[in-house]
Amino acid sequence: MESDCITLTRFVLAEQGKVPAATGELTQLLNSLQTAVKVISSAVRKAGITKLFGTVGETNVQGEEVKKLDVLANELFINMLSSSYTTALLISEENKSVIEIETEKRGKYIVAFDPLDGSSNIDCLVSIGSIFAIWKKPENKALDVSQALQPGNKVVAAGYALYGSATMMVLSVGNGVNGFMLDPSIGEFVLTDKDMKIPKKGKIYSINEGYTHLWDDAIKEYVQNKKDPSKGPTYNARYVGSMVADVHRTIKYGGIFIYPATKASPSGKLRLLYECIPMAYLLTQAGGSASNGTIPILDIQPTSIHERSPIFLGSSEDVEEILQIIQKHK
Ligand code: AHG
Ligand code: MN
Ligand code: MN
Ligand code: MN
Repeated sequence: MESDCITLTRFVLAEQGKVPAATGELTQLLNSLQTAVKVISSAVRKAGITKLFGTVGETNVQGEEVKKLDVLANELFINMLSSSYTTALLISEENKSVIEIETEKRGKYIVAFDPLDGSSNIDCLVSIGSIFAIWKKPENKALDVSQALQPGNKVVAAGYALYGSATMMVLSVGNGVNGFMLDPSIGEFVLTDKDMKIPKKGKIYSINEGYTHLWDDAIKEYVQNKKDPSKGPTYNARYVGSMVADVHRTIKYGGIFIYPATKASPSGKLRLLYECIPMAYLLTQAGGSASNGTIPILDIQPTSIHERSPIFLGSSEDVEEILQIIQKHK
């Protein structure tokens, strides 16, 4: 057995140690998130046995059918974060409004999260995940729900958990990206993917091609080029339909993940605060890039908590290539 392994908690403590003024509050927050993720992972692994598949018969603020695991994961995130004494505001995909933490339990961080990403993949056992981004509440200012609307370039930490063939947490506290595999035998996340970097260019494109008829000409041209040997090396198509799984593969293997604006959804589908921003932050920290087609995702000033954004994310050369085609079509 490894007697000196770097657990996620140990890693975060070491990061905290590099900042002389650090109070340990972020470490405490990340510990509460770890607990939520461990329970979700355990629930996912035995969902078929414990009758956790299926819907609850309700529709959420997004107009989506709510699944039992969406509810459980959301309750875990809210309960663990609000009792950690480290948060002031919570933004969840599943809650219509911003959650204000009661004064006695209030801390200095604001957290936006997608408790269970890839809901449509739950019942067929395809990989699903959780996503989060963390900001600081502005100092010397009274708490105000508008403080939930901070851009990606103010994020202090972000990450995701992937409940795939193994459970993994991928995290950045602004100092590169590191991946931690859950060792179920000890119940700890252990550092396995140190300083993750995305290849400069990949060989995979990832987009829901069923919507081709709804795309702009620029997207049609880019995807067509990737299938036409006369336009350069052809790419493989991969699309899980769980953003966490598609993004994790993109970081590991390179390539591009796209959820564009369509004629049916002019702002795309993915939500800025708890899907696009955390993933853009991680990709940028891993040496890749993320754009909405015009500006970097991290530079968008959010105007409402559930707003959506088109996203082009992945290897920097692949993202640059599609941005040039978009520019040409303008
Ligand atoms: P969620 O399950 O949190 O609502 O997110 C679903 C998202 C995301 O995971 C995925 O990338 C996208 O929906 C897939 O959408 P399409 O089915 O339209 O391709
Ligand atoms: Mn959803
Ligand atoms: Mn999602
Ligand atoms: Mn979700």
